[in-house]
Amino acid sequence: MKKVGILISGRGSNMESLLLSMRERDFPCDAKVVISNIETASGLEKAKKLNVKTEVINHKDSKTREEHDEKMIEVLKKEGVEIVCLAGYMRLLSPLFVREFKNKILNIHPALLPAFPGLDVQKKAVESGVRFSGCTVHLVDELCDHGPILLQSVVPVFPDDDSDKLAKRILKFEHKTYPLALKLFAEEKFEIEGNRALLKVDNSEYEEIVKKLMWNGE
Ligand code: GAR
Repeated sequence: MKKVGILISGRGSNMESLLLSMRERDFPCDAKVVISNIETASGLEKAKKLNVKTEVINHKDSKTREEHDEKMIEVLKKEGVEIVCLAGYMRLLSPLFVREFKNKILNIHPALLPAFPGLDVQKKAVESGVRFSGCTVHLVDELCDHGPILLQSVVPVFPDDDSDKLAKRILKFEHKTYPLALKLFAEEKFEIEGNRALLKVDNSEYEEIVKKLMWNGE
């Protein structure tokens, strides 16, 4: 069992889907702690309901990003965390943090990276006229929304979509994609080669994975 720490800043729906998956039999991870940089994040209540330890480490109590990240590293290390999942954690991590957990930090982003990194990306997708968008789970490097891609899901963008409608459609798939990416990652099914993560499964297993992540008229 790999020990997991989750960082959040808000409602924590992705965190919840990870925690619920970790309760399933055969899921190779154990949630040790959820850390929020925002005291009022509603995700904290969700984690408590699922009996997972929570900590608030307010970034405003630190003078620098590094100082804040060091406080988080201390908690994560104390809990023996081996994999860090960012689940709507809306702050950039310092190089210090990224180095401490090199190639062990996962993030979910509501767009098909490398398209649309940053904020308000569902709105940007609608406004840009793309026909498809989706979500990406990737390893975190020192750049924003960047690093080897682990899994992606694709959903259509409809002509009458606004950013809220698209965000809802994508979020449903985030909740499937993130747990599956974490499971495969914990099972050491990815081989990192530079900026690529190769998925070491045979073609039929790959097809199964892709099918699970396909939009199916939902
Ligand atoms: C999710 O859509 C996640 O992909 C996004 O924030 C939302 C958090 O929702 N993350 C980013 O944009 C990171 N760049 P949640 O708190 O309900 O999981």
